[in-house]
Amino acid sequence: MSEVALLQLIGLCVIGVGVAILLFIQARFVRVVGFVTILLGIFALIALGVPQMASLPPAEEKFDVATIKTPADMAAIGQKIFFSKGQCALCHSIGPSESARCPDLKGIGAKLTREFMYESLTQPQAYIYLDYRHEGPPKQYPARMPFINKNPIGLTNNEILSVIAFLQEMSGEPITVSPSEITQPTQTAAVIPMAHGQ
Ligand code: HEC
Repeated sequence: MSEVALLQLIGLCVIGVGVAILLFIQARFVRVVGFVTILLGIFALIALGVPQMASLPPAEEKFDVATIKTPADMAAIGQKIFFSKGQCALCHSIGPSESARCPDLKGIGAKLTREFMYESLTQPQAYIYLDYRHEGPPKQYPARMPFINKNPIGLTNNEILSVIAFLQEMSGEPITVSPSEITQPTQTAAVIPMAHGQ
């Protein structure tokens, strides 16, 4: 039995006790307690009926450098990171979405150079694009692009390169990130030259 089902059963029992008190006990004070018990039980059942959001820790993507041979391998890993450890999909959609709070990343690989994408990920405040919906006057979005290379998301340079490969691939662009740029775990991370001034 799931935890929620168990709690619901307890809630039903509590309501049952309250009903029994009301039915069989005449003493006024005890009847009041019984009534309150029923209310509390119903309240608990309603609260438990609200769908639960599971907040599991993001799955760790194993970044096995040895398995990466082609740019497509990088994009495949990047896709997994996008939807898991990178948490990108919490804010971004790929394609129009009603609930999207942040820029739609569909076709982003065609709109932005890889340097610009790298900067968007690692220096998110460097260039802020207010009118990301391209309609009406520029507006502030409800969320902020986090520093992807810092905690809590904390992607490594290899992971960021893979995410960029994925963004390019899903935009139908040639992947300009090469597996040769992946650093072995013992090496210090390579730094991509930043694009300055847009
Ligand atoms: C907490 C919400 C949030 C998360 C998580 C997030 N972003 Fe963003 N992102 C934003 C916002 C808001 C902007 C627009 C502001 C800006 O350009 O810095 C943005 C901008 C961008 C841009 C530039 C878009 C443009 O049109 O210029 C790219 C590329 C991007 N995000 C990719 C990613 C990727 C890849 C991830 C995951 C590794 C990610 N984001 C995670 C909120 C988020």
